[in-house]
Amino acid sequence: MVIFSQLNYFKMAVLDQLTSQEAIDLENKYGAHNYHPLPVVLSKGEGVHVWDLEGKQYYDFLSAYSAVNQGHCHPKIVGAMTNQAQTLTLTSRAFYNDMLGKYEKFATEYFGFDKLLPMNTGAEAVETALKLCRKWAYEVKGIEENEAEIIVCENNFHGRTTTIISFSNDPVARKNFGPYTKGFIKIEYDNLEALETALTSNKNVAGFLVEPIQGEAGVYVPSEGYLAKAKALCEAHGVLFIADEVQTGIARTGKLLAVDHENVKPDILILGKALSGGAYPVSAVLANDNVMNVIKPGNHGSTFGGNPVAAAVAIAALEVVKDESLAENAEQLGQLFRSELNKYIETSTIAKLVRGKGLLNAVVINDDEESDTAWNICLKLRDNGLLAKPTHGNIIRFAPPLVMNEDQLLDCVSIITKTLQEFE
Ligand SMILES: Cc1ncc(COP(=O)(O)O)c(C=O)c1O
Repeated sequence: MVIFSQLNYFKMAVLDQLTSQEAIDLENKYGAHNYHPLPVVLSKGEGVHVWDLEGKQYYDFLSAYSAVNQGHCHPKIVGAMTNQAQTLTLTSRAFYNDMLGKYEKFATEYFGFDKLLPMNTGAEAVETALKLCRKWAYEVKGIEENEAEIIVCENNFHGRTTTIISFSNDPVARKNFGPYTKGFIKIEYDNLEALETALTSNKNVAGFLVEPIQGEAGVYVPSEGYLAKAKALCEAHGVLFIADEVQTGIARTGKLLAVDHENVKPDILILGKALSGGAYPVSAVLANDNVMNVIKPGNHGSTFGGNPVAAAVAIAALEVVKDESLAENAEQLGQLFRSELNKYIETSTIAKLVRGKGLLNAVVINDDEESDTAWNICLKLRDNGLLAKPTHGNIIRFAPPLVMNEDQLLDCVSIITKTLQEFE
């Protein structure tokens, strides 16, 4: 035992002294190659900043795909997590725990729903919403067994499970993972006519699953009024409107939820990522009783879903959003970001446009999707102290933590424009 722990200590000490290149080599050799990370190895984060192993400081302009909205290592969230981790971590749902009910009450009041179903990752929450929608279709709407259809959008991104990639149209995400799950109708995003046709031509439609802004696809903001009209169409056809706010939710787009921009209340709301401020995997599905009550013991679950640490972390993370007015800050800084970048883009040959809402934005690079220009710009941004990542070849997503202040944002704009200048 002593020898084992000494050996472990020795190994840890060796690991502690890695260079960035050594850390990259370890991942390449021992990890599955399911990502293509920007070559930078981060070892510390605080607020809007992260540091690499050599101590270089960067602005984080990805926020772990909008999970770290509250900033890295927010003391209130870390405090809640460590405190709960020292008290009770996991009971499974075989027993009650004293945190889950508190969290469910807090979160349902916070978002205005009757009930919450706790999960861990975004993809699990999407799966949960799909199952919930189907069960509701058979038991409440009265669709014949196994006939339910769910409408989804082209270029969606909802996660990586077998069912979810079944209705993706990203060939890289899909190829050689078949056979695929049936029961989905794909329509064009931001196309109300297509939605209406799909709703009227099929009596077995149970739900419409939609991202209020398509994040992974390249931050596509739908036309104004799209979400409200889509919700009205769903209501008219007795179909559940399911909002996937895993990326857009929790203040990212300048409102608590992106659907709030159009005063839309989804029938099913899917949350993840920033529900924990990026400290811990926490996701959730929220709905009112008329929908959620179809779920009975044994229908669905997860060993970790609703564990006491997740509950404590999520309460703290949601409190931070309100205490620090993160939605308002995202709205203000988002306007500033787009207006400053637009000034630059007016005369730019390399940057075509900037689009987004709040602090979920993207710059479209003037090159084709297959080019590596956006990747090279991200490498240069890294050298200049700012981390961002291309999404789909020629689009760079810019999504900093929402705890950023105006001076920091303007500093970042100058790093971005100075970097773009190098590619003109
Ligand atoms: C809209 C949306 N839904 C679902 C997911 C999946 O979340 P996770 O990676 O936690 O499974 C993502 C992840 O980027 C997302 O952007």
